[in-house]
Amino acid sequence: MTLPSENALMAKAARRAAGSQPGPRERLLAMAQGRRDLVNLGRGDPDLPTPPHILEAAKRALDDGATHYTHWQGRADLREAIAEKCRRDYGLAVHPDQVVLTAGAQEAVYTAFQTLLDPGDEVLLADPHYTSYSRAIRLAGGVPVAVPCTEARAFVVDPADVEARVSPRTKLLVVVTPENPTGAVIPPEAIAALADIALRHDLLVIADDIYERFVYEGPPHMSVASAPGLSDRTIMINGFSKTYAMTGWRIGYMVVPRPLVAAVEVIKHTLTICAPAVSQAAALAALTGPQDCVEDMRRTYAHRRRVLLDGFEPLGLGGRWSRGALYVYARVPSGGLGAYEFCVTLLEQAGVLAFPGTAFGSSDGYIRTTLLQPEETLKEAVSRMAALLQATAQGRTRSHRSPSRDSRMDGV
Ligand SMILES: Cc1ncc(COP(=O)(O)O)c(C=O)c1O
Repeated sequence: MTLPSENALMAKAARRAAGSQPGPRERLLAMAQGRRDLVNLGRGDPDLPTPPHILEAAKRALDDGATHYTHWQGRADLREAIAEKCRRDYGLAVHPDQVVLTAGAQEAVYTAFQTLLDPGDEVLLADPHYTSYSRAIRLAGGVPVAVPCTEARAFVVDPADVEARVSPRTKLLVVVTPENPTGAVIPPEAIAALADIALRHDLLVIADDIYERFVYEGPPHMSVASAPGLSDRTIMINGFSKTYAMTGWRIGYMVVPRPLVAAVEVIKHTLTICAPAVSQAAALAALTGPQDCVEDMRRTYAHRRRVLLDGFEPLGLGGRWSRGALYVYARVPSGGLGAYEFCVTLLEQAGVLAFPGTAFGSSDGYIRTTLLQPEETLKEAVSRMAALLQATAQGRTRSHRSPSRDSRMDGV
């Protein structure tokens, strides 16, 4: 029997999964692989450790036998703690039966669209956005309808632009605040206007508040779920990765309107049966334990943000519009390079990894840097950028042309 060739095997992949070339993010990560002097401002993975009381709780849980499946929605005491958090933070009367623990907020994103979308259903979302959103929408047969966000509005989505894109096929509105990659924080009046659009056009809403604790300037965080009348039509998505520096634990959750819980079960149980038991124990300790660790992290990130902003300002990169999340969305310096080309040059000639805005949508001209390195490392990144820009101004660098299609939104 002859073995099928590589091409024949690739041709057998389902259309929904096949044909995706590595996006700009993957290409840059591959280029950065193994580079020893790298300053990594790429992935949104906190460098800070998970707080010790959470680690201890997880170790105890393992010793006590947290090695089995739990209820598909997650353990009851954790769901109660999440319902209580929703009451405390958002004033929402959430019942523990509405809470579904997931393997990271990522599983909640996928599950939400698989649960809600039929082929051709349209979903309104900001451009740029966390790219897993558009990918999950397409995998569910839906159509992402991107609403451009610009520096002129501090990358806050304009409700009028959202409403202009509502069509008879629009089913869902996604509201992420603070936003990834821009760090935009949507102010209360814009949240109210978005809620009003959802109510008037009978849209379902996804409220992703995963960066809720990380606001550094301007209006405080407000979840669209807490707007009057919205909780009955909103799936709330949140997690522990960012707030408690727990990316590797893969634990997040969704809060689902009661009538949709049975439909969520069909998708969620098929994907993972339940969220990891040991991570649920850690999440319970995170929610019910001391919260000063979160404020400590917020202060650390706020300080790092200042370091980047102060360093970027004289270089003409800006970034003050990034008021929240774990990122500074900086301008590509003038000089004619697109965002991807600039990131390649930055990586190859200065050893700094950042992602182009085009990895998150269609807006060229920006790069996403993170607050997820110690202060000294961030200062090193700024000084390498300054040296690169100076060398470019003096015509001492090699310029890079984009190899291909850097504005595509898939595969990142
Ligand atoms: C807006 C947003 N939602 C969801 C996620 C997924 O987070 P996790 O699966 O680690 O909880 C991320 C990750 O960066 C994100 O930026």
